[in-house]
Order: sequence, then structure tokens, then C-alpha cells
Amino acid sequence: MNGPYPKEIMEHFKNPKNIGTIKDADGIGKVGNLVCGDVMMFYIKVDKNKISDIKFQTFGCVVAIAVSSMLTEMVKGKTLNYAIKTTSKDILKKSGKVPTIKAHCSVLAADALHEAIYDYMLKQKMKIPAGLEKEHKRIKKNLENTEKKHKTTKLEEELLNNF
Ligand code: FES
Repeated sequence: MNGPYPKEIMEHFKNPKNIGTIKDADGIGKVGNLVCGDVMMFYIKVDKNKISDIKFQTFGCVVAIAVSSMLTEMVKGKTLNYAIKTTSKDILKKSGKVPTIKAHCSVLAADALHEAIYDYMLKQKMKIPAGLEKEHKRIKKNLENTEKKHKTTKLEEELLNNF
């Protein structure tokens, strides 16, 4: 019995992959959702244009944890270009149907990954694809508004730092 969620979601929620941080990450992406106030972070290591390591941490819900875990497995070892093109739709195709109210959780995961890639490309002074740049502006605005509306508490910050 999996409750309201597909089997794939419950499996990744119970046994999430790639949770945590990467201390010397090449790129870090942080995003927030205005409605629920949840925050998600993705960390990547890049080697020869491929994602050699990836980790995430989140205050998000069951679906947020499960889809992030799934997404890390989908893009680990793949090229940056492939990861940029991987969207929340691809995640939901793999996870199975989630309640409509939970669709944004997969957007959060894809956004956090794309932000980590953006961060990496910026640090490497690479040419950032126009689509990624546009996405970055939307995500940044969302995060600012989320932080304004749902202030991260000191306790939450400490928890994230000690993840
Ligand atoms: S991440 Fe906000 S409800 Fe799932």
C-alpha cells in the first residue's frame, strides 16, 4: 500500500539516493517555492563536462525528497547539456502521477539542478545558454520572494549547515 503516491515515489522517499552536501562542489543551486516555502539545494561536481557527483538537501515534502533523489540518479554521469534539458516533466514521467498540488515539488528539483549548473558555468566563465539564463532570472526572483515571505529560521539554517 503506497497511499496517494506511486510506488517509485515511495521507494525513493524511504531510501533516498545522494542526500547531503558536497563540500568542494563545483556548482551549487538553491531554490525556493513561494507557495509552500520549501527550500531545495543541489550540489554538483563536474568532470569533462559531465556530472561526476551530485547531492541534494531539502526541507521539502515526501514528493520533493523522492523526485530529487530520482533526478540525481537520472543525471549522474550525464553531460551538462543533458541535465539542462532534463525538466520536471521528465521527472514526472518517471515517477508516475502525483497529486496536482504536488507537481511543483518536481519543478523545485529541476530548478535546483539547473541553478547548480548555472553557478558552475558562471564560475568557469562559460557561455551560458539563453534558456538557462532566462530560467535563472525566474528562479532567482522566486527564491527572493520565498525568503521574504517564509523567513528561514536560525534553526533551519543550522540544520542545513550540519546536514
Ligand atoms: S516541495 Fe513544497 S509541498 Fe512539496
